[in-house]
Amino acid sequence: MIGDQIVHNKEFTPLFFKTEIDKRVSQLAREIAVEYDGKKPIFIGILNGSFIFASDLFKQVNIEAEITFIKLLSYKGTSSSGHVVRSLGLEESLFNRHVIIIEDIIDTGTTLHSFLPEIMEHQPASLKIATFLTKPSALKYDIKADYVGFEIEDKFVVGYGLDYDGLGRNFNNLYILKDDDSGQTE
Ligand code: IMP
Ligand code: MG
Repeated sequence: MIGDQIVHNKEFTPLFFKTEIDKRVSQLAREIAVEYDGKKPIFIGILNGSFIFASDLFKQVNIEAEITFIKLLSYKGTSSSGHVVRSLGLEESLFNRHVIIIEDIIDTGTTLHSFLPEIMEHQPASLKIATFLTKPSALKYDIKADYVGFEIEDKFVVGYGLDYDGLGRNFNNLYILKDDDSGQTE
């Protein structure tokens, strides 16, 4: 169909077009600007996936604010949770700061569940989460985002910063994996 995208041999179809995304991101930016005016918040974008959302959002939060980015390394280890997350590159002091984490998507919530305690160790004045997407039916931990672009069903998406095996981040629209044609044989 017109507008579909193929990434690594899988077919994706548009879920949200850029105009709709822009409108929603602007709304979130306005809400954040009202709530954080005078608080000089520091945004922490989680790389790689959040870089486009973070950029579009931050440009429109027209109050005094800072932004920094970190990369999370996750290990499937022998810890009790089986999943350990460490951050790379956080140089700013978060002590007594109003912190807003920026994520591309909260899927199972595993990443943030492991990472938020590390942020809390810095004793921020407050901590909130802004995420472009959530998949509520995939959530496994009690993680609640404060600013959510869109809630989507539990299917794989690409575009607007999100990738499928490295590709698709540069699509302006957001695309969702098409269902396999049932009954079709090779
Ligand atoms: P979680 O730890 O299960 O919440 O997963 C979070 C991370 O998984 C996100 O930051 C993404 O990098 C990746 N992810 C989860 N779902 C998708 C998707 O549908 N498309 C692309 N990346 C995804
Ligand atoms: Mg990510």
